[in-house]
Amino acid sequence: MVEVLESTNSVLKEMAEAGEPEGTVVVAEEQRAGRGRLGRGWASPRGGLWFSVLLRPEVPPAEAPSLTLMAGVAVAQALKAQLGLDARLKWPNDVLVRGKKLCGLLAESRSDGRLEYVILGIGINANFLLSALPEELRRTAITVREILQRPVDRLALMRAIIKELDAGYKAFRDGGIAPFLERWRELSETLDRAVRVETATGIVQGVAEDIDATGALRVRTPNGPVTVGSGDCVHLD
Ligand code: BTN
Repeated sequence: MVEVLESTNSVLKEMAEAGEPEGTVVVAEEQRAGRGRLGRGWASPRGGLWFSVLLRPEVPPAEAPSLTLMAGVAVAQALKAQLGLDARLKWPNDVLVRGKKLCGLLAESRSDGRLEYVILGIGINANFLLSALPEELRRTAITVREILQRPVDRLALMRAIIKELDAGYKAFRDGGIAPFLERWRELSETLDRAVRVETATGIVQGVAEDIDATGALRVRTPNGPVTVGSGDCVHLD
């Protein structure tokens, strides 16, 4: 546990490069330069739960993205088990409660022919009020403290998430992603909704139909189905 650092993902990445073993976790009370998807920043005030987990799965590099699906399911299940929250999943990696973002996941991997490591970064808006976030995030974000009207035991929550991740990771290594895909679909807030996805190559708009084993989203558009690997997704209805 470090009080304040730049980013738990960045610190753990350096440790991974130096040979740190699988299972290492870096937790911070506050991040000065928290990182989000698509090169964005991630507001990480004191009171949140900001941590990263190092994994070294012996799977082909192409299978690394499916670990994010497993992690999303693990976080949603832990939030339910530990705090009774009705957590849902928004494609690609957000965990929502009451339709607002409570948690973001950032998976970063390195492969050199074979997969060297995956860093799963998990950021949960835990014990702070929305006023601690920049103005522009307050409409779409939510915090555990705002929902439950009390602070929660962050260590217990982190333990519950790590327990789910541990079980999920073992199941993933034994049986692949199929069971998590099914669970992801059940918990999904995105499937069957009208969506607008901003991708690196343009905008895809239509109805979200399904996800595949790599975590890509299939969208039914007026011009036929389009599969989107990554992007920024907005629910339109
Ligand atoms: C996103 O939704 O854009 C992903 C946000 C991921 C934030 C977490 S907080 C812990 C870890 N360290 C980081 O710098 N980012 C991730």
